[in-house]
Amino acid sequence: MAVETLDRNTPKAPDPHKGEPIPAAAMAEVERLLSSGDLFRYTAPEGAPVALLEAEFAALLGTRYALAVSSCSAALFLALKALDLPRGAKVLIPAFTFAAVPSAVVHADCTPVLVEVGADFRIDLEDFRAKLDGADAVLISHMRGHTSDMDRIMAECDARGLPVIEDAAHSLGTVWKGRNIGTIGRIGCFSFQSYKLVNAGEGGMFVTDDPELAARAVIMSGAYEHNWKKHPGLQNSYHHWQNRLPLYNMRMQNLSAAVVRPQLPQIEARVSAGRRNHDYVAERLQSSPAIMVPSALPGESRAPDSLQFNLLGVARDEDVRAFQNAASARGVPVQVFGLSTDNARAYWNWRFLGDLPDLPKTRAMLMRACDLRLPARLTLPELDYIADAILGALRDTVSA
Ligand SMILES: Cc1ncc(COP(=O)(O)O)c(C=O)c1O
Repeated sequence: MAVETLDRNTPKAPDPHKGEPIPAAAMAEVERLLSSGDLFRYTAPEGAPVALLEAEFAALLGTRYALAVSSCSAALFLALKALDLPRGAKVLIPAFTFAAVPSAVVHADCTPVLVEVGADFRIDLEDFRAKLDGADAVLISHMRGHTSDMDRIMAECDARGLPVIEDAAHSLGTVWKGRNIGTIGRIGCFSFQSYKLVNAGEGGMFVTDDPELAARAVIMSGAYEHNWKKHPGLQNSYHHWQNRLPLYNMRMQNLSAAVVRPQLPQIEARVSAGRRNHDYVAERLQSSPAIMVPSALPGESRAPDSLQFNLLGVARDEDVRAFQNAASARGVPVQVFGLSTDNARAYWNWRFLGDLPDLPKTRAMLMRACDLRLPARLTLPELDYIADAILGALRDTVSA
């Protein structure tokens, strides 16, 4: 039948929201945990899946301590609390990030200071330097895996004694001049939410080399009574902080760890597939003069699971919308951060912060920056499908 032939030979538009498949080993472990009822990380005297995951993750990244928590937002909150910043402390964050980031800052009783982000999706270093005086800490979101220049950021912050937290929610597997992203600042935070490289539905990780910060975060994550004895690290520090810090209960449960652990050995393959997918589609898209894909910084080895590009020379919002509609009609949804109502990555929607500054560079970028999910599992014909759909949509609208 004609329809069957078409289905076999023509790839369908891939579903960009499908998460990474969960390895079979996770299913067996989840079943074992469900039948034993051993779901709480602190029940077993040793070898709980969450504790094993922490040890494996620390070894993978080359950090001394890793603490598994319920989300990256929880890790960011604990990072700010572990630094013991005073109430109202000013924390610099990029104005292009997910709303969970300024939310974690206000949750920790601190005040976010939004820093401009350029057309390359990275923090604007001039605005960053201008806002450093008076700041108490810096939280760098490597948004969508775009690494800001960590050499310059660390040099500026070290010179002023400012602690740096890295929000590496999208950057697991990214390497900056031989160092894993998330291990350059004092604390790194990762996400295992489904649209990230490792998919646990929800989950996060806090990493640090600093034993005091680790001890404080472990206690506050909910290691009540003497459960901290099940964590490696300075036992005297734990003992010191016992009962002196609040317990926020942001622990990871064993089921999530069971889902994450078998995915760790797959990270390397997912990173190279993600990079291949990104670079392949980027090259095809850049054949159009209306598209600019910012390149990696020198020294940055990326681990992308999505692709961002800027529309060039498109003055009118309605033309961008027409392009989006045409791509969507081909089965490829393209998000333009600043154009969709209530977008959580458009800083002007963070009204919970009160008065919001005008940030013209970030605003201009958000109005033309296009976002496309490109999970590692996509095949070459699917990547071609996506590139064809976007170039076709451009031809029919913007470049028509
Ligand atoms: C840049 C960034 N930081 C932090 C987070 C928070 O991650 P989680 O959903 O694990 O709390 C997200 C979520 O997507 C994010 O995009």
